[in-house]
Parts: sequence; C-alpha cells; structure tokens
Amino acid sequence: MKRGALLSVVACAFAVAILAVHGDDSLVPPRREVYGNGRIFDISHRYHPDMPEYGSDKGIGQFLWLPKSMKNGSIANNSEMKLPTHTGTHVDSPGHFYDHYLDAGFDIDTLDLDVLNGPALLVDVPRDSNITAQSMESLNIPRGIVRVLFRSLNTDKRLMFKKECDLSYVGFTEDGARWLVENTDIKLVGVDYLSAGSYDHLISSHLVFLKSREIILVEALKLDDVPAGFYSVHCLPLRLSGAEGSPIRCILIKN
Ligand SMILES: *[C@@H]1O[C@H](CO)[C@@H](O)[C@H](O)[C@H]1NC(C)=O
Ligand SMILES: *[C@@H]1O[C@H](CO)[C@@H](O)[C@H](O)[C@H]1NC(C)=O
Ligand SMILES: *[C@@H]1O[C@H](CO)[C@@H](O)[C@H](O)[C@H]1NC(C)=O
Repeated sequence: MKRGALLSVVACAFAVAILAVHGDDSLVPPRREVYGNGRIFDISHRYHPDMPEYGSDKGIGQFLWLPKSMKNGSIANNSEMKLPTHTGTHVDSPGHFYDHYLDAGFDIDTLDLDVLNGPALLVDVPRDSNITAQSMESLNIPRGIVRVLFRSLNTDKRLMFKKECDLSYVGFTEDGARWLVENTDIKLVGVDYLSAGSYDHLISSHLVFLKSREIILVEALKLDDVPAGFYSVHCLPLRLSGAEGSPIRCILIKN
C-alpha cells in the first residue's frame, strides 16, 4: 500500500473512532423538566400522540406530519401540525364559553400578558373533594395574590400522563369558582387537568370565571415535583387571532 493511501486509511479509521466515541454522545438530545440548577421548572406538558384529549379515550393521536423531508430530497425538514387549541397545557379566552365575546373579538391575542406573568403561588388543594367554596375558604389565600396554580388529586393520579381522558378529574365547582371571584384578587387560575371546571360543573364554572373577562384560565399544567410556594410564573400563549384557546408554554422561576 502506498504511503498516502495508508495515511488516509488511518485518518479515516481515526475519524470513525472519534465519531463512535463522541458523535453518539453529543447527538443525545437533552430533555429536561428543570433548568438553571433547580431554579426553573417547566410546567408545560410535552406534546405527544398519547396525551389525553378531553372526552376521548384515544389520546390526541398523530398531530405532526413531515410533508417536506430531507430524506426525500428537500433542502430542509418542514413539518406541519394540526391540534385542537385546547390540547395539553393551554389557555382559554373569554370567547371559549361566551359566544358573543368571541364575536366581539376577545380572542387569545387579547389576553393580558401582565396577568400571565408575575408573582404566583402554587398551592395544594384538599384531596377529598373538587375545588368547592369550602376548599377555597380553607386555603386562606390572602387578598393581593393575583396568580394561583391549584395542584390537586389530578397530579397525584398523573392523569395528564394517561391516554384515556378521566372525567372524574378534580376541577372547580360553580360555588368554588364563585367564591374565588367574590373573595380573592386572583386573576390567573392554573389547574392540573384539561378543564378548570369539574365535569359536573363544566359550563357553569367557566361562565363564572370568564364573565368579567379579567380572569385567565390556564389548564393542564404539569405541577409534579415542584414544591408548593411562591414563584414567578411566566406563561406565553401563541398570538392566535380569532382563537378562543391556545397551547401555552409556562415556567415557574424560584424567587
Ligand atoms: C429531518 O427529517 C428526517 C426524515 O426525513 C428525520 O429523520 C430527521 O429527524 C429530521 N431532522 C430534524 C432536525 O428534524
Ligand atoms: C418519502 O416519500 C415516500 C414516497 O412518497 C414516503 O412513503 C415516505 O414516507 C417519505 N418519507 C419521509 C421521511 O417523508
Ligand atoms: C369531582 O367531581 C367529579 C364529577 O364532576 C367526580 O366524578 C369526582 O369524583 C369528584 N372528585 C372528588 C375528589 O370528589
């Protein structure tokens, strides 16, 4: 073998060895729930086909397609998605349960980012009932607290990690919603399953929350493994004009 050829064979083997050692490692993507040395908690659920869809036992199914792929000769990969706007961690606009609000234009693009971002309290609600007036009263949430994330039995039961929708989830009853509206300054209501209203009070509790157009409901938050207490919450919906719901990315930052 000529010296040049030998050199290139050696170089080639060397490159393959380096790839084998380093290439694979560096191609393992990080997937985290917590960032910044335990300071930043991702409280949005990862979108995937087996996540639950309200009222269905089939999960959301395929929502992502790759009509342009590099493997088929495109210059880049370009995917498309199709997703009900109330899928996974999402936000409701007043138009979700008030048709005339949606007609008037109260869509996701009109939601107040000041309500969706700021000091927040993560609390555990009593586990033996839905979120009633009595449970609200027992939480003793002081006046002046504007953003509260309510963690319930839904998190203990890991309902958002199950493909089948469970309609026995915990949510607000109508009197729980009314108690919150009348006795607190809460404007951001975060819950840990697909609806802020319990199944038996689905419509009535939403109507109570959304009537003033001041309260924003963020649903299906991922509140596992986050200590209760005070944080800064940061939630950003997509600017979907005309939509009454949107996926939302929310994080909590430890103060
Ligand atoms: C590009 O598309 C291919 C399929 O053609 C897929 O295997 C690959 O993961 C895609 N890459 C990225 C960066 O999305
Ligand atoms: C590439 O195109 C073929 C034929 O249209 C299709 O069956 C295949 O799924 C495509 N692959 C990707 C990665 O898009
Ligand atoms: C909450 O209410 C639903 C019906 O809306 C019910 O199925 C469920 O058992 C209740 N959960 C608790 C903990 O009381």
